[in-house]
This record gives sequence, C-alpha cells and structure tokens, in this order.
Amino acid sequence: MELVLLGTAAGGGFPQWNCWCPICRVARADPIRAHPRTQSSAAISSDGRRWFLLNASPDVHRQLTRLSGVVPEGIRHVPVEGIVPTDAELDHTLGVALLREARQLQLYATGAVLEVLAEDSRILPVTEAFAKVAVTELPLESPVQLHYRDGSPAGITLIAFQVRGDPPRFARRERPGHTVGLLIEGDKGGRVAFVPGCGELDAPLLARLANADLLLFDGTFWTDDELVRLGISDRTARQMDHMPISGPDGSLAALRRLPCRHRVYTHINNSNPMLLEDSPERIEVEAAGLVVGDDGMRWSL
Ligand code: MLT
Ligand code: MN
Ligand code: ZN
Repeated sequence: MELVLLGTAAGGGFPQWNCWCPICRVARADPIRAHPRTQSSAAISSDGRRWFLLNASPDVHRQLTRLSGVVPEGIRHVPVEGIVPTDAELDHTLGVALLREARQLQLYATGAVLEVLAEDSRILPVTEAFAKVAVTELPLESPVQLHYRDGSPAGITLIAFQVRGDPPRFARRERPGHTVGLLIEGDKGGRVAFVPGCGELDAPLLARLANADLLLFDGTFWTDDELVRLGISDRTARQMDHMPISGPDGSLAALRRLPCRHRVYTHINNSNPMLLEDSPERIEVEAAGLVVGDDGMRWSL
C-alpha cells in the first residue's frame, strides 16, 4: 500500500492568506525556514495508480499533481477512485465539489458526515448536479472494503472509529460519527492509522493506534492557548477539539511511547511553532521520534 501526504496544513493552509502571525511571516519571507503547506489531505493506493483521497481539500487540484507518474492514454483521466472524509468540515470536504468534472465519484463516509454534506453544506447535492456520486455509508467500528469505480475490489479495507470532535459549526444536528479516525489495512499488508482531528487521546485509543505501521495524527496546535495568546480566538485548542501537542497531557507525551514504525503529525495550524524548521519545538518532536508532516511525504507499506 502507498500513502502520500497531499496536504499537511489545517484549514486555511500555510501561510494562511489573511494571517500575519510570526510563523506565517516566516513562511512568506523565508520558505526554506518554514515550508508552505496545502490543506489537510492524504491519498492511498494499493497499485500506485488508482487512489482514494482521505479528505478532499480546497487545494485538491494542485495536490493531485503529486499523484501523476502514469501518462494517461485517453483525453480525460481521473486518478481518484473515491473520497473518504473524516469529518464534514470545509477544509476536508470542499474538494469533493471541486472534483465534479470526474463525472463518476465514490464517497465513503459515516451517516453523520453524509447528513451534513447532504443537508447543511449541500456539497453532496451540488456535486451530484455534475457527477454521479456512489455513496457508501461507513458504519462505526466495522470493516468496509474499498472498491474501484468499476466495482472491483481495491485491496484496501478500513474501519472508521469515533474520536472526540464537535460537528461543524454549520451542522444543525449532532450525531455520533461527526469526527472519525480511520484504520486502513492493505490486503498485501501495511497498516495506517489516520486521525487528523482528535480532541482526546485516552488509553483505548492509544492501544488501537499502537498497531499501525504508519500513524498520522492531529498536529493542529502546539499549546492549548496558542490562538488565545495571539489574540485571534477566544477558544483553546481543547475547546476546538484538537489535542495540543506539548505539555504533560499533550499528544507528544503519549505518542512518543508508541511502537509504530512511523509517527507523523499532520493538519498543522499555521500558528504552530513546530512549522519552523529550526525551532526548539521541531527539535523536541524529532527527539521524541516523531515527524512533522510535510506535503509530498510518501510511504510504501
Ligand atoms: C477544524 O479542524 O477544527 C476545522 O476544520 C475548523 C475549520 O477549519 O473551520
Ligand atoms: Mn480542520
Ligand atoms: Zn499564521
């Protein structure tokens, strides 16, 4: 199984268009010291040709150029077989509508996410006006095989599991499964845990993540009060259902003990100081054996 990190920034990207925080300033002035990043998404494939998107970001067109490598024979070529969103937030789903020219798409999502896409953001009916979208509802805690658009099995099985997270602010109802993590397994081996948004990391979740060869985890904020201190929000990281990385109760203290071969932070907010290549925060993450995710990183599992 192949996994490509298409985008490693949280909503807004890095630098964010309207942000002049100290970290965004460096990304503009000195992109060697702080690599610009597109919004949160990854792609998986069992054959390196046909891909499934784990979240579809507003930057999806630019991101798909990372999947080329095969020169298509026809005039039109769609490298995406399906999309698997982990929540219905705009950074993870606006890209669904942006792929409308595909004419044929697949969406694998929980009932809660599907309801928001159908009724609140209306991204699903908007996309369906242009493309045939085959929808598969992902039950919680039960394995689902991915299929290619022609109906043949894709050699990848996934399990969606609930993690702590509020529904998007435009959702009118709250139901279980608004925010999920994914455990993904290739028929020929390779186990990935994909958890780009997570408000709580308890012992059962840690035990589950420990089985992954590649763990991709919520790296949104370094400290709980990061945005409050910058004066750009009155909500803490935890109130926004993102575990902060630092501190005794942060994700790094827990993830550093996991045996996974690769442990990688993704969905990184532009205010997070670990984005600076030479920061003490970056050194701390790497000393713990973790990786700060960057666009274009790939693994063969
Ligand atoms: C989040 O990750 O908390 C959401 O995507 C929020 C947002 O970008 O609006
Ligand atoms: Mn987000
Ligand atoms: Zn910023």
